Parts: sequence; structure tokens; C-alpha cells
Amino acid sequence: MGSIRSVPKYRIHYVGLVLPGIVPYIRSHILELKHEGYMPKKRGSAEVWKNPFIIGHLAEGEGFADREKEVARICTALRDQASRVLVYGDRRVGKSSALRVAAEQVRAGGVPVAVVDLANATSAEAAAQRVLAAVQKEVGRRWSDLLLKAVGKLKGTVTVAPSVAPDGTLSLAFSVTPATEPSGKVKQFIEVLDAIESELDGRGVELGLGLDEFQRLRQWCGEEIDWPLKAMFERHRRIGYVLAGSEKSLIEQMLENKKAGLWKVVDILPMGPMPDRELADWLLERSNATGLELSPDAAIAVIRIAGPRTRDVVQLARAVWDRTRSIGSAGPEDVVETMDLLVVEQAALHQKLWLRLHDVALKVLLLLATDPKAEVTGAGTLSKHNLGPKTTVHRVLKDLVEGEVLVEGVEGGFLFDDPFFRRWVQLNVLQDVGREAPPLLNTWEQHRL
Ligand SMILES: Nc1ncnc2c1ncn2[C@@H]1O[C@H](COP(=O)(O)OP(=O)(O)OP(=O)(O)O)[C@@H](O)[C@H]1O
Ligand SMILES: [Mg+2]
Repeated sequence: MGSIRSVPKYRIHYVGLVLPGIVPYIRSHILELKHEGYMPKKRGSAEVWKNPFIIGHLAEGEGFADREKEVARICTALRDQASRVLVYGDRRVGKSSALRVAAEQVRAGGVPVAVVDLANATSAEAAAQRVLAAVQKEVGRRWSDLLLKAVGKLKGTVTVAPSVAPDGTLSLAFSVTPATEPSGKVKQFIEVLDAIESELDGRGVELGLGLDEFQRLRQWCGEEIDWPLKAMFERHRRIGYVLAGSEKSLIEQMLENKKAGLWKVVDILPMGPMPDRELADWLLERSNATGLELSPDAAIAVIRIAGPRTRDVVQLARAVWDRTRSIGSAGPEDVVETMDLLVVEQAALHQKLWLRLHDVALKVLLLLATDPKAEVTGAGTLSKHNLGPKTTVHRVLKDLVEGEVLVEGVEGGFLFDDPFFRRWVQLNVLQDVGREAPPLLNTWEQHRL
């Protein structure tokens, strides 16, 4: 999702206090003047600075905030071939970014680390191919024949062909023959890693390996993957594994499998929301370093309005930066305005989702958009909101959670997964039940950091 267009803005505090309605009017006129080139651009204008809040790719460098403890733990696991760590948490909190940053740190210390993202892989053999390609990319220069020899051990299930990259460098393209049975898929995947382990062992060298969204293996192979995967982790001595993933139900099944529970071999590194104070400090520091004086209250407002997922916070901060950078400062009211503009910008997406939902799901979402603490399946709620039988509502809630529209709250209840979608519902649908969209800032002030 792109950020909103950079819109220069003028701040008139006194008028804003006395006549709030006139502010947008004056602002828009000043904006027009600026756009038409009547007003001189400030020195150090937006072109000089790059937006420090990045959402298009994984966070890295100065764009990566804190997470020191988690990164240190992942580094240790990548360096230590006796330990296996599973980074486990909600969506968009920064698991993949932390894995990437840790991998960079470990590489800088001289240990090779390959990170394989299985999120977009289409099958178990594609996953095996991705592992081979990532390891080749990481160690190909250092140990040029390692992968060729490893593939040689696989007795023809993997073929390899030299390929020339667009920049003219020579690389290897691996092709894993698809297996039909789940057991065959499992065997293939494990054999690929066994072959790499065996080659590393023969040379007395080590490798860190990150498998991001590893639980997809279970989608392709079923529970047959659990035991071989666990046995492999116990067997390997040359590969330090870090697993990461978001699909809680699948991962929990893998962890809790009675005979082959992964919990016996992996340490769990829970990845929760970043502490508000650290995130706020980082927002302030990055804004100030790029010419935008974000007020501390504005930083808090970004965190309160965007919610617990780091990506949502960074997305809102990015849009605030884009809108206010040319003015040079931003307060909480800018955050509120930006949130609503961002929601308008994404409206088509949200509308599409809304139109796809079942009637009962729409009622449930309307209810939660009005009252996040609503006890949706309580007898009083069911009849007051005409939600129908409890069993249907239970099923609808389950579907909404599986579809990542809602998440179960830590203290029970259900919350919107996406704060931008929640706001869209508030702005566009609440009117149908005679309600107005609640102000975004009436609660955050009670929760200052
Ligand atoms: N520590 C961080 N500092 C700054 N931005 C971050 C940080 N962690 C995450 N982000 C922001 O959140 C986005 C998503 O992060 P990332 O993909 O690492 O999360 P994830 O937990 O792996 O998500 P998913 O559950 O979708 O796999 C990043 O592109 C970045 O914008
Ligand atoms: Mg991820």
C-alpha cells in the first residue's frame, strides 16, 4: 500500500482553536497557492529528505527499530548449530525483518546465513528449490562446489543447470522433480537439507539457515512432515536453524503434535508488539533526523491509532511524514487527519472486502466497530442486534479470524486485525445504524506513555 501523496499544509493554531471549521478551508487555499507555485518553498524542502518510514519491504538499517533482545536471540541461534529457535507471533509485528537484520549481523561476523522465504512458494518441491538457491547464493563464492556435490547425493531427484543472471554472473538453477505423495514431498525436502548438512560436515564448516513461513510445509505435506522435521533438527550438527511464521493454528498443531511435537526441539521466541515507549522514541528520532519535528503527543497518537502491529504504525507514520514534512512539524491533529485520508485512499480495497462478506459477518463487524468490547455471542447481544443463532455467529467469528479480518484479543473478545479497515467501517457504514464515526483521539489521551 503506497503512502498518501505529499501534501504541504499550513498550520494556524489560533484560528484552529477558535474556529475549527475554517481551518480546512484556509489550509486548502494555502495548499492551492503552494501547488500553483505562488508561495516560495522552504529551504530544506521535502526533496532533500527521504521518508524514513518504510513499508514496501522488510525493515533494515536505520529503518529498523530496536528489537535488540529478539535480534540477539536470533543471532545466537544462527551461530549455534545446537540450537533451534522458532520466532512466533502475530502478523506484521516484524518477525521477518528481525530475522533479516539478525542474518546480516551474523554474516558480518563471517558466518554464512541463508534465509529462505516460503511465503510465496507454491509447493514443497518449490520450497526445496528455494532452499538450494538461497544456500547457493550465500556460499557459492566461498565453497563453489558445495551445492553441486550436495545435489550429486540426491540421486537424480534434483537437476541443476548453470544459468546466467541479468548482470552476467553465473549461477545455478535447481529443479526438484515433483513428488506426488505427501510422504514423497516430505522425503525430498528433508533429503535436500540432509545433503547440505552432509557436505558442510565433510568440510567441517557451518551455516545459519532461516526458514520464514516454515509452517507452509505442513500445508503441502500434512502432518507427515512433523516427525521427519523434528528428527532432522535433532540430527543436524552443522546448520543453525531459525524458523519464523504467523499462521498460529498451523504452528500450534506442529508444536503440539503428540508424537512429534516441535516444542521438544525448538525454543520459542515470542514476538509481540514493540513496547510503546521504544517505538515512540524511534518515531521521534527518525522524524527529527529527517527534518520533521513530530511532537511526542503525535508519536503517541500514531501508536494508539494504528494499534499493536509495527507495520501499521510505520504505515501511518509514513503518511504523516509525507503530509507534514514540508511544514516541518506535526501534532496529534495531523495524525488524525492523516489516518482518515489514508482510509479514504484505501477505500476501494476495504469496500471490496466488505462486499464479499456474509450478512451476519457484516453485522458482527458493525457491532465491533462501534463497541470493541462487545460480547458478540452473549444472549443479550444476539437478540439486540438480530444476529441469529449463536452457532452461526460462532462459525462466522471463526471464519473472520481465519480470514484475518478479526483477531482474538488477549483478554478475550475480538478485534479488527486491520485498523484501517476498522476506521473505514466507522466512517462509511456506521451511519446505517444511526451512529457517527467516533473521534480517533478521545481515548488515547487517557493512555499517555
Ligand atoms: N523493528 C522494526 N522497525 C521498523 N519497522 C518495522 C519493524 N518491524 C516491522 N516493521 C515494519 O513492518 C513491516 C512488516 O514487517 P515484517 O514483514 O518483518 O513483519 P512480519 O511479522 O514478518 O509480518 P508477516 O506476519 O506478514 O510475515 C515492515 O515492512 C516494516 O515496515
Ligand atoms: Mg513475515
